[in-house]
This record gives sequence, C-alpha cells and structure tokens, in this order.
Amino acid sequence: MEEITNPLKVAFADTYAFYVKAQNYHWNVEGSMFPMYHEFFGNIYEEVGGAIDRFAEEIRAAGAYAPGAFRRFAELSNIEDEVLVIGASQMVATLYTDNMKVYASLKMARDVADTYEQNGLVNFLEDRLDAHKKHDWMLRSTLK
Ligand SMILES: [Fe+2]
Repeated sequence: MEEITNPLKVAFADTYAFYVKAQNYHWNVEGSMFPMYHEFFGNIYEEVGGAIDRFAEEIRAAGAYAPGAFRRFAELSNIEDEVLVIGASQMVATLYTDNMKVYASLKMARDVADTYEQNGLVNFLEDRLDAHKKHDWMLRSTLK
C-alpha cells in the first residue's frame, strides 16, 4: 500500500545516501586525526550498511519494489551527494545534519506503519531509529 511504502522508500533512500556519504568520508578523510576519523566513519557506514538489505526486503514485504539505482536514490532522498573532499570536522558536521534527516524520515515512515498496525515493520523502524539516535550522540559529541 503506497501510504506505507512511499515514506518507507524515502527513509530507505535517505539511509542509502547516508551510508554512501559515511563510506566516502571513511575513504577520503585526511589529517593528523586520520586514524580516529577513519575508524569513526567506518563504524557508522558499517552499521548503516548492515541494515540496507533488510530495509529493501521490508519494502518488498510491504508490496512495493525496492529502489536500487543511484538516480532513484537521488530522486527520493533528502540528502545531498558529497562530491568534494572537505575537512574532517566539516565531515562530522555534515553527517550530524544528515543523520537528523534520516531520523526524521524514519520517524515519518514509522508513524505511518503504526497507523496501519504493521507491527513487524514498526519494530524494524524503531530499531533503525535507535541506531540513528546513537549515531546522533556520537556525531554531536565529536563536534564539541
Ligand atoms: Fe575500510
């Protein structure tokens, strides 16, 4: 049902865009704190990346096709692609802001799924909200 799957696809595209950006930063970060940032961004992209397959399968279980192309992700996502190599602290600030966008779209998808009493889907989305709340804490703490 599109009422459920449309916000779910947006949350999925935001998740995918966030994952790619964290991996991009893991690869390209530079500076004296390289080992710390490289590992920090690595932990984020690995956690988020670990949810992507299940996320797509939840979309299929809800009756829609899963977006699977860069163009579709760009159309659906609220998150801008990173095409420049920016400084490490700017990377943290960008991920902090983007993480809030992922959280907001997950929350929207979760609330719609709850309205339609899709309990398994609600549980999955709440797990993702918890994970992004933890990313929020770590990004916010690193920014200080
Ligand atoms: Fe790596």
